[in-house]
Amino acid sequence: MNKDRQPELPSLARTVTGLPPSGIRRFFDIAAKMQDVISLGVGEPDFATPWSIREEAIYSLEHGQTTYTSNYGLLELRSAIAAHISQLYDVQYDPESEILVTVGVSEGLDLAMRSILNPGDEVVVPEPCYVSYKPCIILAGGVPVTVRTTADTNFCVTPEQIEAVRTPKLKAILIGYPSNPTGATITRESMQKIVDYAQRHNLFIISDEIYDRLVYEGEHVCVSALHGAQERTILLNGFSKAYAMTGWRIGYACAPPSVLAAMVKIHAYTMLCAPIMGQKAALEALRHGDASLSEMVQQYNQRRRVIVDGLNSIGLECHMPQGAFYAFPKIVSTGLDAETFAERLLFEQRVAVVPGTAFGAGGEAHIRCSYATSIRNIEMAIERIGAFVQSLDRSDRRLRSITGSQ
Ligand SMILES: Cc1ncc(COP(=O)(O)O)c(C=O)c1O
Repeated sequence: MNKDRQPELPSLARTVTGLPPSGIRRFFDIAAKMQDVISLGVGEPDFATPWSIREEAIYSLEHGQTTYTSNYGLLELRSAIAAHISQLYDVQYDPESEILVTVGVSEGLDLAMRSILNPGDEVVVPEPCYVSYKPCIILAGGVPVTVRTTADTNFCVTPEQIEAVRTPKLKAILIGYPSNPTGATITRESMQKIVDYAQRHNLFIISDEIYDRLVYEGEHVCVSALHGAQERTILLNGFSKAYAMTGWRIGYACAPPSVLAAMVKIHAYTMLCAPIMGQKAALEALRHGDASLSEMVQQYNQRRRVIVDGLNSIGLECHMPQGAFYAFPKIVSTGLDAETFAERLLFEQRVAVVPGTAFGAGGEAHIRCSYATSIRNIEMAIERIGAFVQSLDRSDRRLRSITGSQ
């Protein structure tokens, strides 16, 4: 299309034009045009989907299984999801009325927000958090109310923090542990306090547990398993991270029947159903994927130690993340803000990381480094980041010697 001769068009939706672009994409776009970049930027497994899962999808295609499914998703898959959650967390969901197969957790988030929010309803979101949380609330007509969390409290939110921002319009709390970007998990006791608070004030809880299988220390706390939680929780999960299935676009939502029915209504009109090939693959993942999952977890765990030790050794203070595949070191000691640090690191040493500011309040003192990449890449990246940090020290010393400051 000729850009000079674009006709004048009606205005676009204000909710969309008002949204800032993702702070992650900008760095990827720059990095993609550069040579020899080591990327710690991507939030997706570096493994291909395990072969038996791919083979199952190929088999189903070969046998002509190329149709729509029920709006809810294949009953066989929903039953397997119910059995899976029951086995892992001792929580019972009815596959007929309480489970919906979605197009990734991404769609689950959107459906959750659109089915519970009226214009102006508020949702508490602890930050730093996954980049889509606030836009999903805004696009559904809601208002995100952010609560800042920090490394000192392992990035966990407390009822007191929520109480400090509560208004009569507060409708829900949106949380995601293990967390992207911090890698933090939450303890059973801390989460139970949030559930009790939600119960006292009649709030929904939306719990994004996409990293539940990637926990290296302690246990994953499934929110629905806590006392009084299941009846007010929309539990979101999916196959992207645990089974290296980002491209298949399969997730699921578990919720009380009335909430799930509302979500299905939107899903049926907008998506119809999740792709059948992905659903077949997801079924195979639940049936036989755990051996591959354990191998991947073992590798992520090794990489986690290498990256955290490496970052601390070059002077970037980094807490040990208990889950997901992100390290979230502090960069305040360098005197740079997160955006400048990430940009200069990319141009000067060709390492792509994401500035913590992309994840909201509390992220400004950090960068996010994904360790879903090989140990070799992590080691080379640490060397380059170390050289970058040293070059800052040198220029800082030079500056002090010129200005005579301490
Ligand atoms: C916390 C979190 N939730 C949801 C998603 C999206 O997952 P899906 O691929 O299932 O849409 C991601 C992807 O990075 C994520 O990190």
